[in-house]
Amino acid sequence: MRSPIIISVVNHKGGCLKTTVTANLGAALARAGKRVLVIDLDAQQNLTASLIGPYTSENAQFTLYDALIDELGLDNLILPTSTAGLDIIPVTEEFAGADLSLVSAVGREGILKSCFRKTKALADYDFILLDNPPSISLVVMNSLVASDYFIVPCSAEYLPMVGLTLLANSVEQMRKLVPNLQSLGVILTMFSRNERICRQVENTLRRELAGNIFDAKIRVNTKAKSAPSVQKTIFDYENSSKGRGTEDFTELAAEFVERLEERENQFLMAANG
Ligand SMILES: Nc1ncnc2c1ncn2[C@@H]1O[C@H](COP(=O)(O)OP(=O)(O)O)[C@@H](O)[C@H]1O
Ligand SMILES: [Mg+2]
Repeated sequence: MRSPIIISVVNHKGGCLKTTVTANLGAALARAGKRVLVIDLDAQQNLTASLIGPYTSENAQFTLYDALIDELGLDNLILPTSTAGLDIIPVTEEFAGADLSLVSAVGREGILKSCFRKTKALADYDFILLDNPPSISLVVMNSLVASDYFIVPCSAEYLPMVGLTLLANSVEQMRKLVPNLQSLGVILTMFSRNERICRQVENTLRRELAGNIFDAKIRVNTKAKSAPSVQKTIFDYENSSKGRGTEDFTELAAEFVERLEERENQFLMAANG
């Protein structure tokens, strides 16, 4: 596979597990021996708080916001997490102003990609996962333009499913800017086998999206609500190979790599004519 492969985790809806998927898919891949960098692009700092705890611009001389505004490399922003092989670029609260600052920038959708080009350490990673804010904004466009693939966590309920159409339309618009951007699939989250609506949503999406949906699902799990409060991934928090989240994210990571290998082979075949 090419490396690094850059993947945006997107959905304009909040609470569909973008941040949880970024952290725990990242941890699962790292536990499988991959080198993974996760980047927090949401000024709400949920990914940052989940993996390394409180982080403010007072902790840092130079922040992701500064890098984006001045179009600089991100090498000095990378921090380790408690999971070996999993690093993070944290975000500070001032990132809330990023969208407004980007509006007047030349080539405003491609600034993050330009920062990536200037970041030497990116070559050290197999995967880079970008956690996005719950919006369709310039920050999200920058994330997609900088990515090879995107994944869409979607809670297994009626309203989030309806919202997927809006997301699909805006990503389709994005393809004008990034023709090579590919969907790796929708991930059903907050799944509960006992709830009829979950089964209905799953059936509808599998029918409508065909292969563009992961077999692996993330089930409702109360432990997943507490894990971030002590800066633990679901693996460390459950500390059991039979933990519900441990099982779900291990399965998701295996399918993620499988899907990528398939797509990357197609990509290479196309590139070689
Ligand atoms: N498997 C799960 N079951 C139930 N709640 C979960 C699960 N995983 C995470 N949560 C909780 O759901 C909420 C939303 O998740 P989050 O990943 O922050 O969504 P998003 O980033 O899309 O807004 C968080 O408070 C989180 O603790
Ligand atoms: Mg989030």
